[in-house]
Amino acid sequence: MKFSERKRDVAIVGVGSTRFGEHWDKSLKDLIAEAGFKAATEAGIRGKDVELIVGGNMSGGMFVGQEHIAALVADTMGLQPTPSIRVEAACASGSLALEMGFLAVASGMYDVVLVGGVEKMTDVYTSGATTALAGAMDLEWEAYFGLTFPGIFALIAQRYMYEYGLTREQLALVAVKNHDHGFYNPLAQFRKKITVEDVLDSTLVADPLRLLDCSPITDGAATMVLVPAEKAHQYTDTPIIISGIAQASDTLSLFNRKSLCTVNATIEAGKQAFSQAKISHKDVDLVEVHDCFTIAEILALEDLGFCKKGEAAKLYEEGEVWVGGSLPVNTDGGLKSAGHPIGATGIKQVIEIVHQLRGESPEPVQVKGAEIGVAHNLGGSGATVVVTVLKRGD
Ligand code: COA
Repeated sequence: MKFSERKRDVAIVGVGSTRFGEHWDKSLKDLIAEAGFKAATEAGIRGKDVELIVGGNMSGGMFVGQEHIAALVADTMGLQPTPSIRVEAACASGSLALEMGFLAVASGMYDVVLVGGVEKMTDVYTSGATTALAGAMDLEWEAYFGLTFPGIFALIAQRYMYEYGLTREQLALVAVKNHDHGFYNPLAQFRKKITVEDVLDSTLVADPLRLLDCSPITDGAATMVLVPAEKAHQYTDTPIIISGIAQASDTLSLFNRKSLCTVNATIEAGKQAFSQAKISHKDVDLVEVHDCFTIAEILALEDLGFCKKGEAAKLYEEGEVWVGGSLPVNTDGGLKSAGHPIGATGIKQVIEIVHQLRGESPEPVQVKGAEIGVAHNLGGSGATVVVTVLKRGD
């Protein structure tokens, strides 16, 4: 089914998320239940209304020893015999679950679909999490030789700084901006403002990336309810329409790419999603992009076409990417400050845009009069990218 051949538009009518952070007192099931019931309560649906569940999870097996996540979700929420599907695309698992849920409703097959994402990462040490995460890269040609995700993005940052003259101070502004925004997000992992000096003085992780350039290791879950747009007012006065959603792929390994500084899957998914939604860049009021490491946010803004290659740093120096600027980016703190529970991140990004378009984000990070938002979710070093365009419904 091409996007233009969809039987109907799809609306988000309820959202729910746990706090992101270290949850020593909560299990994987507790996180699923908390986010799931919040979204269902907001949409005013009951268990028997749910016709399909699609959940994103990268590695329940390696993080907590739990597989068969689809059945776990249905069971945890008491939704048997509702069909339940698990989707895995590394850090893009959540948004891919959203795309599958979108297809289920847009095709006319299902009317009420619960989509979500979850990861419980802190039950293992950092070394265990690093090993689990390495499964998202080319195991034979990258992980086997000791490459880690901070290492991959450090290579990208080194190359980008060499090619475009990005300075260490400019790169730090990405983290400063995301912590500025995340300070106001009650569900964020790190609610603390930081300075460029804090970033430069933080522990070196993989040269040139320091601790405060990295997204953290996080537990969390996020969920939303999808219904046909024509029925959305049965559930809410403020439906948010998915007016474009596209996935594209790129090589799993970095060395197979023509350039380390461009993620082709972002370019391709972005073009498709913008064309589906019939929007141009000037229509966009805010974006959520995948800042797993500071350099990833720079690449995402350029590859999505918000500025020319090599010029994103200017947007930071001129303050354009803070709320109040021409292109607010990661108004919830992004992955850096809000946290990055892998499978949940793609859903959380879309939830932030939903809050913004409904006009219910906390001051001072509410983007005034926001009508259109774009979410960009990246799997691995960019082998999977999903771009979603959201519009405020009538
Ligand atoms: N930002 C800010 N503070 C952080 C942080 C981050 N990303 N990660 C950890 N911290 C803080 C902790 O809260 C802790 O603070 P405290 O001493 O006040 O309690 C301190 O730093 C040490 O935390 P710890 O968990 O021991 O850090 P670590 O050295 O084991 O791990 C990283 C730090 C950066 C290596 C780890 O967070 C990491 O691997 N991040 C990347 C995850 C990743 O690759 N995700 C996939 C992306 S594609």
